Amino acid sequence: MIIRRFQPSDFQWVIDIERKVFNEHDPYLYMQFYEIYPDTFIVAQINGFVIGYVAGFLARVGVGRIFSLAVYPKYQNRSVGSNLLNEIKNIFRKKGALEIILEVRMDNIKAKRFYERHGFFQFGIAEKYYNDAHDACLMKLKL
Ligand SMILES: CC(C)(COP(=O)(O)OP(=O)(O)OC[C@H]1O[C@@H](n2cnc3c(N)ncnc32)[C@H](O)[C@@H]1OP(=O)(O)O)[C@@H](O)C(=O)NCCC(=O)NCCS
Repeated sequence: MIIRRFQPSDFQWVIDIERKVFNEHDPYLYMQFYEIYPDTFIVAQINGFVIGYVAGFLARVGVGRIFSLAVYPKYQNRSVGSNLLNEIKNIFRKKGALEIILEVRMDNIKAKRFYERHGFFQFGIAEKYYNDAHDACLMKLKL
């Protein structure tokens, strides 16, 4: 598995993954993301295929924020997500982050368990955060 920075030719892969795993999507956000935060937009590649990505940014001094992390369904539960998360953790650390924050849907049990296993804890709730009025669980990791 290769973990590397996103490049524009990966765009279609990322959009396909996003479409498969999330209810809400906004393809153009990812190109903007690449233009503004190229250092913290990472993909996982196997046999020439991009099968996962993580997009984050330094939200403010000392605070990294994960905007989106996803793995193509067929490749889940094979540590791809963990590898992506570890990579972005290292990048944030090098950029001086002391903590990482993210939001995850309250009903996304799998992702919440995944983040907890990686040391994240819930520190708040954002009510009706998503377009369908679902709440978000706010999670934090101390680096
Ligand atoms: C959440 C998500 C990113 C995790 O990615 P993943 O590649 O499945 O993550 P991992 O494989 O590293 O870990 C998942 C589980 O597989 C298990 N696993 C990993 N490698 C394994 C192996 N070789 N053998 C057996 N189990 C393994 C892990 O123990 C882990 O268990 P958990 O349920 O306690 O977390 C992925 O499920 C996903 O894309 N979900 C949809 C999008 C989403 O919800 N994103 C998060 C909100 S931003």
